[in-house]
Amino acid sequence: MFPSLFLLATPLLPGALAQLSSTDVATVSSKLAQGATESWEIGTRAEALLELNANQFSVFSSIPPPNSVPSNTTSALSPVFSIASNVVKALKNTSAPAALIPNDGAAGDPASIGVAVLLANWTGQNDGLDYARAAQNQLDYLLYEVPKTSDGAISHRVAQVQLWSDNVYMVPPFLAYYGVLTGNTSLIDEAYNQINLYRNYLRDTSANNLWKHIVLGNDTSDGGNDPGHWSTGNGWAAAGMLRVLATMKNSPYSGHYKSQQKNLASWVKEIHTAMFSVIDHTNIFMNYADQNISSSGSFYDTSSTMLITGSVYRYALLWGDHTHLPNAEKCRQALFATSGSGSSSDGSASSSKTSSSETSASKASSSASSRISGSSFSSSASASSAAASPSASAAGSITNFVHFTDDGWLTPVVNPDQFGVQGSDSAESEAFTLDFQAAYSEWVAAGSQGIDWGSRVGISRIGAASAMILVWTLLYA
Ligand SMILES: *[C@@H]1O[C@H](CO)[C@@H](O)[C@H](O)[C@H]1NC(C)=O
Ligand SMILES: *[C@@H]1O[C@H](CO)[C@@H](O)[C@H](O)[C@H]1NC(C)=O
Ligand SMILES: *[C@@H]1O[C@H](CO)[C@@H](O)[C@H](O)[C@H]1NC(C)=O
Ligand SMILES: *[C@@H]1O[C@H](CO)[C@@H](O)[C@H](O)[C@H]1NC(C)=O
Ligand SMILES: *[C@@H]1O[C@H](CO)[C@@H](O)[C@H](O)[C@H]1NC(C)=O
Ligand SMILES: *[C@@H]1O[C@H](CO)[C@@H](O)[C@H](O)[C@H]1NC(C)=O
Repeated sequence: MFPSLFLLATPLLPGALAQLSSTDVATVSSKLAQGATESWEIGTRAEALLELNANQFSVFSSIPPPNSVPSNTTSALSPVFSIASNVVKALKNTSAPAALIPNDGAAGDPASIGVAVLLANWTGQNDGLDYARAAQNQLDYLLYEVPKTSDGAISHRVAQVQLWSDNVYMVPPFLAYYGVLTGNTSLIDEAYNQINLYRNYLRDTSANNLWKHIVLGNDTSDGGNDPGHWSTGNGWAAAGMLRVLATMKNSPYSGHYKSQQKNLASWVKEIHTAMFSVIDHTNIFMNYADQNISSSGSFYDTSSTMLITGSVYRYALLWGDHTHLPNAEKCRQALFATSGSGSSSDGSASSSKTSSSETSASKASSSASSRISGSSFSSSASASSAAASPSASAAGSITNFVHFTDDGWLTPVVNPDQFGVQGSDSAESEAFTLDFQAAYSEWVAAGSQGIDWGSRVGISRIGAASAMILVWTLLYA
């Protein structure tokens, strides 16, 4: 009877399901290190490493950070400083405006690395490189060389004026961080101004405020535009706005930017509200948020789902608004569904990993629901024992997750180089996984506030099934 009670109790423990072990996190980190080669991937990797491993130096702690590196943080910051030094080493030491990655077709993406470069300067990395110069050249490039719209939105492309939702993660956070570290509030103002302008162009009021992906610019040789509501783009915008909000809030200038913080928070939530209103029963977003899975070319995308879900926990921590936490919890359950947790028909991880995305996402969903509905004693017991295997998890269990390949890549995902097409081995999706992990574990450590236990997936059914089995056990065991 005691073992039965233990098995029954386990699924009710918060956090016993649906999360990565530290071994899994190391696996994802190494895939990210291996896969991040493009400018935005390198910058996004740097932010993820700060948030996960050196939070004291991320924008989610007080800014400016310490101006020297404490010994307990040296190894955590070392890959971030390697990013900065590898990038700056390759640049000319001149005072001419220049992006941190030369010859990038994207005007905005290289700026994502600027935060790592500013941090290298701030903490006095003493390796003969002029980080302050490189950062200033990047700033001057954005302010004075990149083409703009007539009302001042800095283009995301070099060759033509074109605005991408992605830009909100790449440029405004760099401007705001630069402003705080150098005490130049006009740069904090400009970060906010750019977001405001981008939102004016990209927010689609005829689609419940989902953001369009790419507007303006009709030079098809530079890639056409994309008025669709790309889920990752909505995630980039929400996560970028959150970083600027955090940069203001955690800085000495917080009091000067009260109304801007309020607006940024409401714009983050506006995206969350729009996105969750179009998610289907799988709790995985479509690559284009409001597409139907049955329309041609559509597919489920765990990459954007990871980014947006992580941003909900981050928003709750930063702003104390828990409205969308129940939605995020459902997405978390779907993202970290395990193959051993359902019945045998949906328990074959390898077939769902290699099959079409539709099959994979619906398998995850049916697996999650069959795990908790427990219609017979034997299926309930096997679900419980699968869920109650933290030791397997601690030994590195990423192969058990339906939405990770055995190598540790999130799946199914959009191709990061071709936003309309499904791909594999997406570096940005691994960064989003680390961002999620950082925010989620901070939220758990802070007491899992705002959780809606009543609406948590199937909790009442678990309770009912457990009670029936308990009665059965007491009567007959
Ligand atoms: C290092 O120590 C400081 C001060 O005790 C602490 O706040 C910080 O979280 C630690 N950082 C790491 C990466 O362990
Ligand atoms: C570089 O760091 C120093 C402090 O060490 C700071 O005074 C200066 O403003 C920084 N420059 C930039 C561009 O961040
Ligand atoms: C870059 O050039 C400036 C002026 O030309 C010089 O003072 C500085 O030492 C140089 N820095 C590096 C890292 O070479
Ligand atoms: C702030 O930065 C801008 C852009 O580099 C510069 O033009 C301005 O002089 C700076 N303001 C202050 C007070 O340093
Ligand atoms: C593209 O945009 C430019 C500038 O707005 C305009 O002059 C040109 O006619 C447009 N071309 C097409 C094919 O729409
Ligand atoms: C998706 O399309 C199918 C077939 O056209 C339709 O039956 C279904 O209601 C649609 N679902 C949504 C969420 O619009």
